[in-house]
Amino acid sequence: MSTALAICGSPRRNGNTETLLRRCLDRLEGQGIGGELITLSGKNVRGCTACAGCVESKDSSCPGGAGDDFQPIFEKMLRADIIITGSPVYFGSATPELMALLDRAGYVARANGGLFSRKLGGPIAVARRAGHNFTYAQLMFWYMINDMVVPGSTYWNVALAREPGAVNDDTEALATVDRFADNLAWLAGKLG
Ligand SMILES: Cc1cc2nc3c(=O)[nH]c(=O)nc-3n(C[C@H](O)[C@H](O)[C@H](O)COP(=O)(O)O)c2cc1C
Repeated sequence: MSTALAICGSPRRNGNTETLLRRCLDRLEGQGIGGELITLSGKNVRGCTACAGCVESKDSSCPGGAGDDFQPIFEKMLRADIIITGSPVYFGSATPELMALLDRAGYVARANGGLFSRKLGGPIAVARRAGHNFTYAQLMFWYMINDMVVPGSTYWNVALAREPGAVNDDTEALATVDRFADNLAWLAGKLG
């Protein structure tokens, strides 16, 4: 049985990114795939310091970040079969909260032989008006270099919204995320 982890990079609790990620998890749940959402809001995960401690220790840890919230989140990522990441667009980019986690997670995973290899997943980006493509591509780079498998949908996983909850008015985004979740479940089923 596959399990999913949705990681929300918005500092705003119950915002649009979280709403879309929850929808994705609910859709997966309806197809027998349980999941959990982690918000990075209020968490302390600082960026990679390039200490290379993970390359030396090779024990799936980030020794350089001892004491912050990275390791328990990383361990949940390792346990999940499906990792979905969501970010609001901040000045055309994913949030620093999410990138701090992904930089470190990717480095530790690669230092230990590719711990995310062939996991499924994909990104979701939410903006008031513009910058989705950059953010979506930025996150896709992370999936691709980590040897992961990302299914498509009927559009890219992007949504237009500003105030919390406004994403529910973007019906095309909702349909896109639904299909993305369906494709994740389909793929997980095919892979057994
Ligand atoms: C610091 C900051 C930068 C932002 N930059 C952009 C941007 O580049 N393009 C855009 O369309 N919206 C931008 N926004 C708006 C958010 O992307 C939008 O409100 C989004 O719905 C927030 O997602 P959330 O509800 O999950 O926090 C920005 C908001 C903040 C606070």
